[in-house]
Amino acid sequence: MKPNQITIALDGPSGAGKSTVAGLLAKKLGILHLDTGAMYRAVGLKALRTGLTTDDEEAVRRMLETTKLEVILSEDRQRVLLDGEDVSTAIRTPEASLAASDFSKLPVVRHKLVELQRQMADRQSLILDGRDIGTYVLPQATCKIFLTAEPAERARRRLLDLQASGDHSATLEQVLQDIEYRDRQDAGRALAPLRQAEDAILVDSTDCSVEEVVDRITSYIKGIRHES
Ligand code: DC
Repeated sequence: MKPNQITIALDGPSGAGKSTVAGLLAKKLGILHLDTGAMYRAVGLKALRTGLTTDDEEAVRRMLETTKLEVILSEDRQRVLLDGEDVSTAIRTPEASLAASDFSKLPVVRHKLVELQRQMADRQSLILDGRDIGTYVLPQATCKIFLTAEPAERARRRLLDLQASGDHSATLEQVLQDIEYRDRQDAGRALAPLRQAEDAILVDSTDCSVEEVVDRITSYIKGIRHES
């Protein structure tokens, strides 16, 4: 890692707005954004396509050995290539979300993706959004933020996102159920569960606009960089 390189860990539950906030912060700070959830989604998608279940960790390990996962970071939009195919849109379906949460419990999946994330953070300044960045992937991150919001508000935002992408089939109740299922599963797994790092600041976005959240986090980051 170069001396003036920084890493920002932005963790929190599904639908708290991490990706949007991380993208805006990255632009403001002139660094790149790595959405680590997209990596778990790509693995979940491949497992779904291959017809694997989480009971057979050995089969998942074999699948990973022959899987090529590439994450291309740019100032506009991250792209995820799965065995050469751009799956950036395919990983955004509700099925891929659930598969990502299911398969991310498996140590064999986490070890592979965490290694890739650490290698990327070693090469450049990054803001990483995920569940375990501050607690497990980069415990020495320059600063750590835990972004959350009430489940009902997260479901409302997720539904709007789905509708904006042309999916009008989901109901608010279904989206809320999915969110609660993923919260339980992400926070309840044995390895690197979703939780706030002791040295992370807590930001609750339930009643805040994206701009307010970004401003608050920017002031916090500036404070930290000023101190060091
Ligand atoms: O942030 P997201 O909704 O795209 O993440 C999809 C799933 O991936 C999430 O339910 C849990 C898993 N995940 C994880 O276990 N660790 C991360 N750092 C990021 C995501």
